Amino acid sequence: MVILGIESTAHTFGIGIVDTTGQILADVKAVYSPQEGGIHPREAAEHHQAYALRVLSKALAQANISNDQVNGIAFSQGPGLPPALRVGAVFARSLATSLGVPLLGVNHCVAHIEQARFFTKANHPLVIYLSGGNTQITTLIAQRYRIFGETLDIALGNMLDMFAREANLKHPGGPKIEQLALQAKNGYHELPYTVKGMDLAFSGLLTASKQLLSQGVSLEEVSYSLQETAFSMIAEVTERALAHTQRKELIVTGGVAANSRLKEMLQIVAEEQSAQFASVPRKYAGDNGSMIAYNGLLLLQAGKRTAISESRAQPRWRLDQVDIPWGA
Ligand code: ATP
Ligand code: FE2
Repeated sequence: MVILGIESTAHTFGIGIVDTTGQILADVKAVYSPQEGGIHPREAAEHHQAYALRVLSKALAQANISNDQVNGIAFSQGPGLPPALRVGAVFARSLATSLGVPLLGVNHCVAHIEQARFFTKANHPLVIYLSGGNTQITTLIAQRYRIFGETLDIALGNMLDMFAREANLKHPGGPKIEQLALQAKNGYHELPYTVKGMDLAFSGLLTASKQLLSQGVSLEEVSYSLQETAFSMIAEVTERALAHTQRKELIVTGGVAANSRLKEMLQIVAEEQSAQFASVPRKYAGDNGSMIAYNGLLLLQAGKRTAISESRAQPRWRLDQVDIPWGA
């Protein structure tokens, strides 16, 4: 069996192809990068539309198959930017209909998590999902990902991107801040640390970091302080969630999971709680089509499929609203 997956929730238009074992046969993407400022939803959608066919033919060539060998079309149904989501949904519907194969609506958050589970071979982990739109600490209980803690305002990746924009760095800011922070070891400046119960908040930290910058503190030192503070907040909540759930595996996924300092901290937390730590590979931390294809495979194997009438984009589809039929 071969499943093709389409990702189009935000900046990335990606197509991945996996076989029955989950092995990735192709993973191709085109990434929209705004000239200035953050992502403009309509521009992202136009980008995706312009690249869709090219990405498709590249992916089929990479997998060395023709489209009539595809047994199912999976797509990111939500959450995400409505115009961008619609491009993927329309493309997926027309492909599935013309090929006469099942259509599989995938939740983008579940896809990040399940792909991380696939790569790390974690069986029943505590999951830290950190990206541009999400900051969640979650684990599977009774066939749902239950959220133990999450951001009360903006997502961690979004906060990093907003700070970077203030410093005139191009989107996405996370990787640039990581590099800058490396050049400022020990230049720590106190910043707001906001943990409320199991939840987190980042906007106070963002405001204070911008202020430090305007007061003339070097971008390297602010980047370092910002990362140390934000990642410590994540580490604290993770530690308590591990203690509470007694999970013996800890995994991290989503775009921010590419960050080495973050992984270093989570590794320490895991060791202290006698848990095994693993991260999704850097290459697959961000949005990609193969995670959607893999989730489509899991759905199809569980006997699920999405009727055309139920395939509308779901911009606000939350992780904890999704049934996980393959889960414990
Ligand atoms: P989601 O819908 O899952 O929120 P997304 O649109 O945020 O998806 P992802 O590709 O999962 O897309 O994550 C992108 C985020 O990851 C951006 O905020 C980016 O700055 C951040 N990021 C990428 N690399 C790094 C890094 N090395 N360090 C910190 N953050 C990073
Ligand atoms: Fe994502």
